Amino acid sequence: MNMPSIGAGTFRLQGQQAIDSVANALDLGYRHIDTAQIYGNEAEVGQALAASGVARGEVFVTTKIWTEHLGGDKLIPSLKESLHKLRLDALDLTLIHWPSPGGMVPVAESMAALLEARRLGLTRAIGVSNFTIPLMREAIEAVGAANIATNQVELHPYLQNREVAAFAQAQGIALTAYMPLAYGKVMHDPVIGAIAARLGASPAQVALSWSLAKGHTVIPSSTQRANLASNLAARDLMLTPVDIAAIDGLDRGERLVDPDFAPAWG
Ligand SMILES: NC(=O)c1ccc[n+]([C@@H]2O[C@H](COP(=O)([O-])OP(=O)(O)OC[C@H]3O[C@@H](n4cnc5c(N)ncnc54)[C@H](OP(=O)(O)O)[C@@H]3O)[C@@H](O)[C@H]2O)c1
Repeated sequence: MNMPSIGAGTFRLQGQQAIDSVANALDLGYRHIDTAQIYGNEAEVGQALAASGVARGEVFVTTKIWTEHLGGDKLIPSLKESLHKLRLDALDLTLIHWPSPGGMVPVAESMAALLEARRLGLTRAIGVSNFTIPLMREAIEAVGAANIATNQVELHPYLQNREVAAFAQAQGIALTAYMPLAYGKVMHDPVIGAIAARLGASPAQVALSWSLAKGHTVIPSSTQRANLASNLAARDLMLTPVDIAAIDGLDRGERLVDPDFAPAWG
């Protein structure tokens, strides 16, 4: 199946909270769940998926390979462990979560292992996350742009990542916007708030609709059923070109996720 344009994120969700969030999301109609090895909740995501009654072919599941598992000899065994925890035979999408810190493992080595995982039927598609343009070039050189389903990057009204988006688009690589609500910050924005008030929508819906209008996939997360429901309804919200231009003007290069092992953003 193709990647649905709105997915439910699971970063930070642990134990029962992870189970409940994924169960609520699936019950409300989400058909795309985003997890990662480092989130420590693949087993809970798997439990919620199994209990949901949603047919396997109807839900798109993504995981991400942690930096310690990027070596050619480690990636596939770690992916098999993820599959075991998730109670799945195959992922829909498997991403390199972060480029190898300090370039320890060459991009080409990890991409080749991902391609082999796909050949073995462990994942239907492969991709990258937190890749800059130079790193995307390396990945493309290794396996070709047609084999890279997405680059998942931080993207919201305060960090619009225009160069990365334009490069990915030119290569035919979809962009997935993580932290699309700027971790809740958009809720307090006066420009977004005014658009939301005029449209009878929530600020979260306006921020999500803006990303969707740019052609990006979004993966907001919530512990609240009501927020999960209203975020999914952002699919039906249409912003005007004037609204989109106003939100375009909010870019301030504000990066919220910048660990010490992050690549040089450029
Ligand atoms: N690839 C990567 O390196 C990477 C990094 C970070 C995140 N991600 C992925 O992206 C997903 C989303 O990022 P995120 O969870 O960090 O941030 P986010 O989705 O931008 O924001 C989540 C925050 O917004 C609140 N919220 C959600 N919907 C709301 C609504 N309708 N109204 C008011 N508040 C709302 C949530 O609180 P409540 O729980 O109270 O609703 C939570 O505090 C993650 O879960 C993860 O799957 C990937």
